[in-house]
Amino acid sequence: MASQPGSAEARACQDCNHECSLSCSGPGELKQMAETFKAKDLIITRATILKEKPDPNNLVFGTVFTDHMLIVEWSLKFGWEKPQIKPLENLSLHPGSSALHYAVELFEGMKAYRGVDEKIRLFRPDLNMDRMLRSATRITLPGFDKKELLKCIQELVKLDKEWVPYSTSASLYVRPTLIGTEPSLGVKKPTKALLFVILSPVGPYFSSGSFNPVSLWANPNNYGASIFAQNEALHHGCQQVLWLYGEDHQITEVGTMNLFLYWINEDGEDELATPPLDGIILPGVTRQSILDLAHKWDELKVTERYLTMNDLIVALKENRVKEMFGCGTACVVCPVSDVLYKGENIHIPTMENGPKLATRILNQLNDIQYGREESDWTILVS
Ligand SMILES: Cc1ncc(COP(=O)(O)O)c(C=O)c1O
Repeated sequence: MASQPGSAEARACQDCNHECSLSCSGPGELKQMAETFKAKDLIITRATILKEKPDPNNLVFGTVFTDHMLIVEWSLKFGWEKPQIKPLENLSLHPGSSALHYAVELFEGMKAYRGVDEKIRLFRPDLNMDRMLRSATRITLPGFDKKELLKCIQELVKLDKEWVPYSTSASLYVRPTLIGTEPSLGVKKPTKALLFVILSPVGPYFSSGSFNPVSLWANPNNYGASIFAQNEALHHGCQQVLWLYGEDHQITEVGTMNLFLYWINEDGEDELATPPLDGIILPGVTRQSILDLAHKWDELKVTERYLTMNDLIVALKENRVKEMFGCGTACVVCPVSDVLYKGENIHIPTMENGPKLATRILNQLNDIQYGREESDWTILVS
């Protein structure tokens, strides 16, 4: 009997030879596949030896991990197993696992912050859960209940709460991951998967604590592997890649960040613009939060629109560009000072203009994240 992941289809228990975790009581009995795991079923095994916590001022992004991890196994046959929190350890994967060969995998990135009131908050984690489930569907990995995963993550962060830096310029990065573990070669929907979540304390994105602008290497080629292009950007003396799309060289994203342009548009209006979510642009949580904030301020035109390199060059000549910045969970906002395009350096006067808007956005988002401003965008972990 064929059954699809996430379906409510019943299965005959002979399928599993009574070795399943679904409490079969005899041949022929029909049992329901586990469509999701539940936080109430969490099995928690605490680490007996706890690692020393690092100095929040000397953290290199993503290099230090906490004491525990969350792990949930899935198979087409049995559905989701019970979620487990256990000491962080290496994974044991079959070398034929689909994640290793066909990149059947996805990840999310979000942060937990220790507020000025000592409370620990997650910033808009519901948006990460929404995006994670969309990614799972898109890459044919199993679905799950987003609220249950979030509750499990809250439990994990609570257990490792001493790892959330005592600092308002550092945080705990949360990395939920889902990978195909089907041990067979063949490009197909996997029948086995593994969901895990690991935690890593991260320091301030800007080591000086202030804005350091980046220069971009404008790249019109769509490389399969973005790290290749990132290396080329470094080779050209730039820090990040500005990804261009199409014959008209549309400006899309910066490295692994969404992009905003604050300018006076062709109609003479003060405008904050970012490319629309047309399938190419990653629907960033920070991007959405900046759009939401700016709409709420109701002080300038806020637009999701196409922007080309030509639009930028013409606007620079006419002195209409105020600020350009990338945005993402890691840095919140990242000012752009230069773009290397067709062998010529184009200066963007972001820093000369403050950057007033980028600073205002960074401050307001930080105020919410560190509990200085009340907001329903955060949920408490403890
Ligand atoms: C390609 C890309 N764009 C944008 C972002 C920013 O998304 P978020 O604001 O959700 O961190 C990311 C984050 O990893 C990314 O990989």
